[in-house]
Order: sequence, then C-alpha cells, then structure tokens
Amino acid sequence: MELIIAKDYREMSRQAATLVAAHIIVNPRLVLGLATGSTPLGTYEELVKMKKKGMADFSLATTFNLDEYIGLGPKDRASYHYFMFHNLFNGLNIRRENINLLNGLAKDPKAECRRYEKAIQKAGGIDLQILGIGQNGHIGFNEPSEVFPTVAHIVDLSEETRRVNAKFFKDKKRVPTQAISVGIGTIMKAKEIMLLANTKEKAEAITEAIEGPVRPQVPASVLQLHPKSVMILTEQAAKGLKHIFYKSNKFSYIEKKVV
Ligand code: GLP
Repeated sequence: MELIIAKDYREMSRQAATLVAAHIIVNPRLVLGLATGSTPLGTYEELVKMKKKGMADFSLATTFNLDEYIGLGPKDRASYHYFMFHNLFNGLNIRRENINLLNGLAKDPKAECRRYEKAIQKAGGIDLQILGIGQNGHIGFNEPSEVFPTVAHIVDLSEETRRVNAKFFKDKKRVPTQAISVGIGTIMKAKEIMLLANTKEKAEAITEAIEGPVRPQVPASVLQLHPKSVMILTEQAAKGLKHIFYKSNKFSYIEKKVV
C-alpha cells in the first residue's frame, strides 16, 4: 500500500486528479470506478478543469459507479446518479453509453445487482477504482459486517452512515434505509485502487484500515491485501497513524511510503 500525505484538501484533490489524468493518457480506454460523497468533489472539479484545458480526454473511457440508494431516481438531487452528472459527467467528454450507474428504482434490485456485475465483467473489469471511506470504515456501501461481501448486493445502511450522509438531504427523514453496492470482491479485482480521505473525522477509520488487522468490521482494511493500492490522505486524515513516519513541508505532498 502506498501512502501520499497531502497538506490539505486542495493538494489531495490535485494529486488524485493528476493520477487519473495520467492513467487516461496511458490507457485512453480506461475503465474507471467512481465514488460519490464530499471527498472526491475536489478531484472531480480538477478533472473537469483539466478537460477544459485539453489536458484530459475521456472520449474513450468507461465508468462504473460504486453504489446507489434504493428508492432514489436520476432526477432526485440526493441520488448518486444526479450527483455524478452534476459534479463530473456534465463537464467531461465521456460518452453517455459508457457511463454505468446502478438503478435505484429497479423493480428487482437483486436482478439489478446481477446486471451490473455482468456489465463490469463485460467491460473487462475496473482498471482504476477511486474510493472514499466512511467514518465507520465502509467503502462503497460495504458496511462493517461479519464477512466481506463479494459481489453487488443490497445493503441495510447503518444508523451511523445514514446520520453522516444526511448532510446531502434537505429533508433528513428522507435518507434511504437501503442501497445497492458493488461488493468488496468487485472492488478488490480492480487493477489499481486509489482511496481518498481528508477530514479529521476519518482519522480513526484510516488508522484502523492501514494499521489494524484485516477484518470485515473495518471494510477498508481489506485494501492491505491489494497488490496496487494508493491512499491519498490529508495530514488531518493521517494524523492517527502511529507506525508511519511522515513529516510536513511546504510542498504538495511530503513523502511516499510503502507500508
Ligand atoms: C457514502 C458513499 C461512499 C463514500 C462515503 C464517504 O457512504 N457510499 O462511497 O466513500 O459516503 O462520504 P464523504 O466523502 O462525504 O465523507
């Protein structure tokens, strides 16, 4: 696992966007796994800027989002579908048919899970998976549990996740109780994984994920087993790390550590 410690959110976002843009140059047909939430917003903003300046061409790229709330449709401002178009896709030259999202209104969510897994396989799997992390260590909507879920599945959202994610809902009572999420197995099959975290509220989950044992109670800890993962963290999010030495300086990132 490689760690990049950025001094602040802006630098974290720039680092992440630069890596994505580099991947697109190396492989214009990149299959990109995408996350939602406040963490990747700055990265998406940077990518849109790069596209405008002609520095990133997404015309051949394919995307798969990680998850969606059950019961929310594309027009719902709190849906991940709406989020992605509003914050990223509308600003890129990506082709609509290459954008893959889970349907939160699917009549048969289990069939929707199967459809999505097949679509990922048909695309040849994910090349680069972007992840955020929940305060409880979840990735996608893979909540802490007794086992690591392998493929796309229906999730009962934890009270903690619903409380934290209520910030995206005008009416807090509307936070759905269920979601569809790709599984940990699907995430771990990605050729490369990039996890981002920036707030001090994530520090505990980050410490557990990097320095704790690999266990499904901290879903992100499974990344320790991935052959090519990078965590881009702000100093705030990294502040709980005990065994990793890093020091601050005025540059965008301080030190790369392989742990
Ligand atoms: C949601 C998403 C996750 C995301 C997490 C963190 O639960 N399903 O993919 O990582 O939120 O959100 P934020 O970035 O807003 O802290």
